[in-house]
Amino acid sequence: MGDRARTPTLTALLCLGLCWGPCDQVQAGAAPKPSIWADPGPMVSRGSPMTIWCQGSLQADVYHLYKDRVSKPLDTEAPQNSSKKAGFSIESMSTHTAGLYQCAYHSRRKGWSERSDPLLLVVTGVYREPSLSAQPGSLVFSGDNLTLQCRSGAGFDRFALTKDEGLTSPQHLHGQHSPYFPLGHVSHTHGGQYRCYSGHNLSHAWSAPSDPLDILIVGMYEKPSISAQPGPSVSWGEKVTLQCRSEISLDSFHLSKEGSPAAPQLLRLQDAAAPFQASFTIGPVTSNHEGNYTCYSSDSTFPYLLSLPSDTLELLVSAPRPQDYTVENLIRMGGAALILVVLGILLFQARDSPGSLEDAARR
Ligand SMILES: *[C@@H]1O[C@H](CO)[C@@H](O)[C@H](O)[C@H]1NC(C)=O
Ligand SMILES: *[C@@H]1O[C@H](CO)[C@@H](O)[C@H](O)[C@H]1NC(C)=O
Ligand SMILES: *[C@@H]1O[C@H](CO)[C@@H](O)[C@H](O)[C@H]1NC(C)=O
Ligand SMILES: *[C@@H]1O[C@H](CO)[C@@H](O)[C@H](O)[C@H]1NC(C)=O
Repeated sequence: MGDRARTPTLTALLCLGLCWGPCDQVQAGAAPKPSIWADPGPMVSRGSPMTIWCQGSLQADVYHLYKDRVSKPLDTEAPQNSSKKAGFSIESMSTHTAGLYQCAYHSRRKGWSERSDPLLLVVTGVYREPSLSAQPGSLVFSGDNLTLQCRSGAGFDRFALTKDEGLTSPQHLHGQHSPYFPLGHVSHTHGGQYRCYSGHNLSHAWSAPSDPLDILIVGMYEKPSISAQPGPSVSWGEKVTLQCRSEISLDSFHLSKEGSPAAPQLLRLQDAAAPFQASFTIGPVTSNHEGNYTCYSSDSTFPYLLSLPSDTLELLVSAPRPQDYTVENLIRMGGAALILVVLGILLFQARDSPGSLEDAARR
């Protein structure tokens, strides 16, 4: 951290501060508390660079950075470009650089400021990652009671949930193995991309993030219509197109299969001209494609807010035509019969001669 070459000047500045100590003390507390923040954010993946910024006053001549409430400063920086802030860079984030940071600044007129509020810096990607799931599911109606669960391996007792990367600070849940995060009755503000992290209670080191989980809030626009081309009954091995059409101007369409744990398929229209419809091609179909399909429409500006569900379309897959496999089966059976005949001849010859089976094979 910091630039060692700058130390002599900084020491001189510090010395000035100390020499004027008595004067400072008279006005102690008069300098406003600085603010502290992390760029790009307080959760940094292991090995990544980051900067802690401290913002005080234009009169500040030196900034101090403190870690884990130790009274001696960890680092010292001069204000940057005579602005009212200083940056402390960390070249590579690790478990050693994670922790609780505070900063303070000195000005000639007002002396030392009080310390900033604490900034908790955590390192992620130190352990293998947990998985995140949603109950009742990732597609929820506004008003539904939504709970997220973070599943992790044994030995973790601290969990954090983030939404839309960096917008919310982590929540900490102690003492649960695979904890539930109850989000309560959802509204449109709950739509977004969630991730969870697991960690140990005494460190600021976290796991890598879980795979992202998109929570989509249903019911924001009127329902689209769904249809199948050429029709809802398909023969095994053929393709079918499911069309989702919106009466209002929306440019994104989602196709969801009832009971499927997979996220809905998404198609975005290139141009926003009528008709507002998207075609999902399915197949060549197998019996796995059979089921009930629903589609939703949305506006790409608000990707987590969906329309009401369309009516349900039941896709039926008819059994494979029997003759398709008759020839193949005959060939297989023929092959098996031939092998049996050859083995039979070998055995027969072996029993006839006094020699062993090996002799028979050699002959
Ligand atoms: C400080 O000045 C340098 C050089 O002019 C510039 O590249 C840098 O972006 C400036 N930093 C800030 C924080 O304004
Ligand atoms: C929401 O669901 C959770 C878990 O199913 C339950 O414990 C909780 O009481 C529910 N909350 C409300 C407000 O219904
Ligand atoms: C950390 O976890 C251990 C064991 O689970 C527990 O005994 C201890 O009290 C915890 N410490 C804190 C600070 O929560
Ligand atoms: C589709 O939904 C209907 C009505 O709920 C149900 O009777 C039918 O079994 C479902 N089809 C499949 C393949 O799940």
